[in-house]
Amino acid sequence: MSHPPTLTGPWLIYGANGYTGALVARLARARGHRPILAGRRADQVCATADELGLARRLFSLDDPGRVDEGLGGMTLVLHCAGPFSHTSRAMADGCLRTATHYLDITGEVPVFEALAARDAEARGRGVMLLPGAGFDVVPSDCLAVHLARRLPSARRLTLAYGGMGRLSRGTATTAIEGLGQGALVRKDGVLTRVPLGWHNRSIDFGKGGRTAITVPLGDVTTAWHSTGIPDIEVLFAAPIGLRLLARASRVMGPLLASGPLRRALVARVCAGAPGPTDEERERGRGFVWGEVEDGEGRRARSRVETVEGYTYTARAALAIVERVLAGQAPAGFQTPGKAYGPDLALEVEGTTRTDEPATG
Ligand SMILES: NC(=O)c1ccc[n+]([C@@H]2O[C@H](COP(=O)([O-])OP(=O)(O)OC[C@H]3O[C@@H](n4cnc5c(N)ncnc54)[C@H](OP(=O)(O)O)[C@@H]3O)[C@@H](O)[C@H]2O)c1
Repeated sequence: MSHPPTLTGPWLIYGANGYTGALVARLARARGHRPILAGRRADQVCATADELGLARRLFSLDDPGRVDEGLGGMTLVLHCAGPFSHTSRAMADGCLRTATHYLDITGEVPVFEALAARDAEARGRGVMLLPGAGFDVVPSDCLAVHLARRLPSARRLTLAYGGMGRLSRGTATTAIEGLGQGALVRKDGVLTRVPLGWHNRSIDFGKGGRTAITVPLGDVTTAWHSTGIPDIEVLFAAPIGLRLLARASRVMGPLLASGPLRRALVARVCAGAPGPTDEERERGRGFVWGEVEDGEGRRARSRVETVEGYTYTARAALAIVERVLAGQAPAGFQTPGKAYGPDLALEVEGTTRTDEPATG
């Protein structure tokens, strides 16, 4: 983030007591912002707000009247309370009622789809709905737009995420929600369900080949809206254990999707650490690779390397908040790359992009 922060406009971080919400709150405070911290649990939200000397608002998402009060007078909310399949609808409803811009850090395809379906409603209210303001999907969406500009005739886009550091509880819980449901790709512009690990491919993220498999990540929606490329697939560099689990899930789908197993997995996750330590975040790196092809033999590939994913999420979300506070909030459903262009990802300190020469 090279440009200085703009300090106008009151704004809210909801889920500020969560691992990622608190990271954003600390970074925002360090950059001179004074966001209002919000969430449903008084003790935890107040502890973070007291530590940072920030105001707080306490409300759950169950009561629309309380949500509207909570959002009252705000320019925007950065919604960090996930799984977003449980929370996004109520928050987006509140934003549309109160004319508050909506940002979140989801990576969940159904959430992107549901918000995209509200584009006209949001335009009518002059509200921006921009989900995916974190590591999912800022670098990948910006890479998709960059690649589409490199090869305007592109018909097929493949994006791949490299590596997996330690997940936060919230990310692991959200991933467990999707277990047993397979993966999603876009074919001829239509979202299509395929088995998890449908394709298996060696990808060079800049440090040698790693095996990546088809997964259901939000780019199948966002890259479609950002580029209009009709065939999109997202891969994830998975260690052997995860690849075997993906294969097993084809026959064990109903078991993995069952309530008791999910509850047992969530309980296990909740007993663990809230997320990567400061040191792990300091050491970690994020990698995203992309390829476009036009079916006529032309191809372009680029890749992006970033700071660790949660650090990137906090920095990217704040970069977008600062744009919105500066008045750059196009109404309707937006993606990071569509709203702010392919170089938004590079504004996040510690990010580099490399292009391979185009072929064909
Ligand atoms: N896109 C990305 O790159 C990216 C990066 C980081 C995180 N994420 C996503 O962000 C979400 C949060 O992650 P995290 O690591 O911060 O998790 P976390 O530490 O478990 O925090 C979750 C937060 O959400 C709140 N919450 C959950 N369900 C709620 C509900 N129904 N109503 C109100 N508040 C609710 C929690 O409040 P309580 O304490 O009251 O339960 C807590 O504040 C996850 O879905 C994760 O996948 C995405």
